Amino acid sequence: MDLADRIPALLARARALLDLGTGPSHRLAAGEIAKAARAVETLHRGLIGQRELATAATWRDRAHLGAYLLWWWPQTYAKVRSALRLAPCLPRPARILDVGAGPAPAALSILDVLGGEAVAIDASEAALSEARALAGSASLRTMRSEAASARSAGGEFEIVVLANVLSEIPEARRDALLDALPVRSSGSVLVVEPALRETGRALLAFRDRALERGWYATGPCLTQRPCPALASPRDWCTASAEWEPPEHLRQLADATGLRADEGLSYAPLVLARSPPAVEPGLWRVVGIAPPEKGKKRLWVCSDEGRIPLVRLDRHASPGNARFDDLRRGDLVRVEGAESRPDGLRIGPSSRVAPL
Ligand SMILES: C[S@@+](CC[C@H](N)C(=O)[O-])C[C@H]1O[C@@H](n2cnc3c(N)ncnc32)[C@H](O)[C@@H]1O
Repeated sequence: MDLADRIPALLARARALLDLGTGPSHRLAAGEIAKAARAVETLHRGLIGQRELATAATWRDRAHLGAYLLWWWPQTYAKVRSALRLAPCLPRPARILDVGAGPAPAALSILDVLGGEAVAIDASEAALSEARALAGSASLRTMRSEAASARSAGGEFEIVVLANVLSEIPEARRDALLDALPVRSSGSVLVVEPALRETGRALLAFRDRALERGWYATGPCLTQRPCPALASPRDWCTASAEWEPPEHLRQLADATGLRADEGLSYAPLVLARSPPAVEPGLWRVVGIAPPEKGKKRLWVCSDEGRIPLVRLDRHASPGNARFDDLRRGDLVRVEGAESRPDGLRIGPSSRVAPL
């Protein structure tokens, strides 16, 4: 099961919530686009700036819920699928807990790849009712509950996912929420936040506090030191998800001018109770510098810090050609690079091997 397989049910539910009528199963009919686009624009305005619609009460409005299914649900599904590659080892099948699940794109994304069973927790019954309607044959149970009561979901879980919910929890309550999650001693907590500077940096501060309390950062981090990105107010850490946007999303992007039909960005964090195996010589790509004349620069991070990885155009060679393919979030082995004042310099004989 993949995102494309979930689109017919997603469109059917969005049509019912937005009173759009009937249309084809994988795209919007021409007569549906304007109304759907207006609903997406209204919710988008409420989710940026003051973020007054970033609350559980938003789901009481059927149009907001319908808009979410059309525009944000597929994006969360793809981001969570991409973020899974940052987790060190994944059980199949898995017991998954989705906290602040909304209509459960995160739980269904993980279930579709790992199989198993999931519990979706949210303060909003309206959102959970959509989760059940969208689950199809996937084993998804829902529980209307405060995130802080996640322990009553029953037993322990191998993957606990919090997608786009941490920033809705008051900062003073986030650490206690993490520590109370029912995660197995060998399990992982996967956090995905919007790639904005504010939410991204808040996630890194949350990471550092978690490490002080005995958690380990197993992805995207390759270090258990305080996050080096927090040293400069301009830095934070994001990953990119390559995706093939569903056709209705391209239609809505054209109609609204909003962009999500290209690459997706998100701020990821994977935490665990046990330390990760550390392999020397590996770096995580955490940023791509804008194009520069005569050279290309990425930002990479490991236990050695967050530094630029630089290759002059004239030093491109078959051994380092994969440097051009690297995307934010990738893990890469770099051999034979030289430490220079402007960063780690890749020469013609260096080897660059994405994992
Ligand atoms: C932005 S939505 C994210 C939904 C989904 N995880 C996703 O990424 O698409 C945030 C969700 O968290 C829920 N939520 C916010 N605070 C909560 C809390 N304290 N307890 C339970 N759910 C909460 C809201 O009802 C909403 O469904």
